Amino acid sequence: MNDLSNKHIVLGLSGGIACYKAAELCRALVKAGASVQVVMSEAATQFITPVTMQALSNRSVFTSQWDDRESNNMAHINLSREADAILVAPASADFMAKLLHGRADDLLSLMCLARPIAQVPLILAPAMNREMWQHPATQRNMSQLKADGAFVLDVGQGEQACGETGDGRMLEPEEILADLIAHFQPKRLAGKRVLVTAGPTFEMIDPVRGITNLSSGKMGFAIARAAQEAGAQVTLVVGPVSLPTPRGVQRVDVKTALQMQAAVSPLSDSSDVFIATAAVADWRVESPTDQKIKKDGSGALPVLAFTENPDILAGVAQSKRARSGALYCVGFAAESHDLLEHATAKRQRKGVPLLVGNIGPATFGQDDNALLLIDENGSKALPHAHKLDLARQLVAEIAQRLSNSH
Ligand code: CTP
Repeated sequence: MNDLSNKHIVLGLSGGIACYKAAELCRALVKAGASVQVVMSEAATQFITPVTMQALSNRSVFTSQWDDRESNNMAHINLSREADAILVAPASADFMAKLLHGRADDLLSLMCLARPIAQVPLILAPAMNREMWQHPATQRNMSQLKADGAFVLDVGQGEQACGETGDGRMLEPEEILADLIAHFQPKRLAGKRVLVTAGPTFEMIDPVRGITNLSSGKMGFAIARAAQEAGAQVTLVVGPVSLPTPRGVQRVDVKTALQMQAAVSPLSDSSDVFIATAAVADWRVESPTDQKIKKDGSGALPVLAFTENPDILAGVAQSKRARSGALYCVGFAAESHDLLEHATAKRQRKGVPLLVGNIGPATFGQDDNALLLIDENGSKALPHAHKLDLARQLVAEIAQRLSNSH
C-alpha cells in the first residue's frame, strides 16, 4: 500500500551512528509513495555521505544554509514550506538541545525553527547512548520539545554501537515508517480503549494434535493497527498466528476458545469498543488426553466426543456494560453464501449493534477483502480493497456510530 503517496517528507539527519539506518528509512519512505528531500547537518555527513542519500531519495541533498542553488538563497524557508512533515532521524542529543533553545546556526536547525508550526509537524526519532538518553538534561529537553509542539518518537532498547546495552537506540526504519503513517491518520478514536480478537483457536485432541481453522488473523491485525493509528489504546487477543504485532498494540496470545474467553472477559470490563474477528472453534474435544493417542494396530478408530465452546462475543454483548451502551460490540460473520441474509440473522442472534459480514473462503489468508456492514438502519458495502484500507474505513464507521450515540 502506498500509504504516503502525495506526501512530501523532509528527512533531516543530525550526527550519530544511527545515520546508517537513515539510508534504509529513506528507501522505505520512497517505497511507501513519499517524495523525500534530505537535509543533513555537517556532523551527519561524517557518518554517511550525501551521495548515498541523494541516490536513495533521487534528489540532491541540502547540507548548508549558504547553498546558492535556491534562487532566493533561502533554502530553510523553501524546504520547510513544501513539507507535509519534517522527520529528523536520527535526532542526536545535541540536536535536540539546540532545537530546544531555538538555535539556528546550520541549515537543519534553521529549517526546523523556520517551519510554519501549525502546518508542518516536526517529528524526532532520538538516537544516542543510554547514559546520554537517561541524562536529566536530555529528558528535560525532550519534555520541553513536546510542550513546544514537536512529536518525539520512542527509542529502541538493546545493544548499542558503543557496546553498552539499554534504551536510546533509534527505532528501526520500519517502526519509524509505521509511526509516520499513523501520524497522518485522523485521531477518530482518541482516548478510546479498543479490544480486538483475531485469528483461529486451536482445540487440543491430545498433546500433539488439535482442531483449528483457516483464519489467518490478517483482518483482525489490520483492525488493531487501524484503531491504534486512530489514537485508541488497543489490546489484541490472538489465537495461534505468527503475524507481527502492530506498533503500539498490546498483544495477548492464547490457544483455545476457553483461554480466549478468559483473556477477553476482564479486558472487556475496561474497554469502550469490542471487535470480535476471531474464528473461534464452535466445539472442543470434551476430554483431551494427556498422552498421545496411539494406533494399536487393530485398525480401530479413535472416538472423539465434543462439547460446545462458549460464544465469547454473545457473552460480552449481554454484559451490563454492553447493554448500557458503555461498550460498543462489533461482530464478524464469515459466510460462504447468502451473506446479507446470514449476517443479518447473526447480528440478531449475537445481540450486537454492528455486524460485519465477509465471504470466508474468499478472504482467508488473503491481503484483500470486501465487507458488508449491517446495523439497525440496514446494510452498507465496503468494496474490495486491501485489508488495512478496509480496517481504516471500518474504524471510521465505528467512530461515527460512537459519536452519534453520545
Ligand atoms: N464468536 C465468538 N465466540 C464463538 C464463536 C463466534 O466470539 N464461540 C464470534 C466471532 O468472533 C465473530 C462472530 O462471533 O465475531 C461470528 O462467528 P461465526 O463463527 O461466524 O458465527 P457462529 O455463531 O459460529 O455461526 P455459524 O458457525 O453457524 O455461522
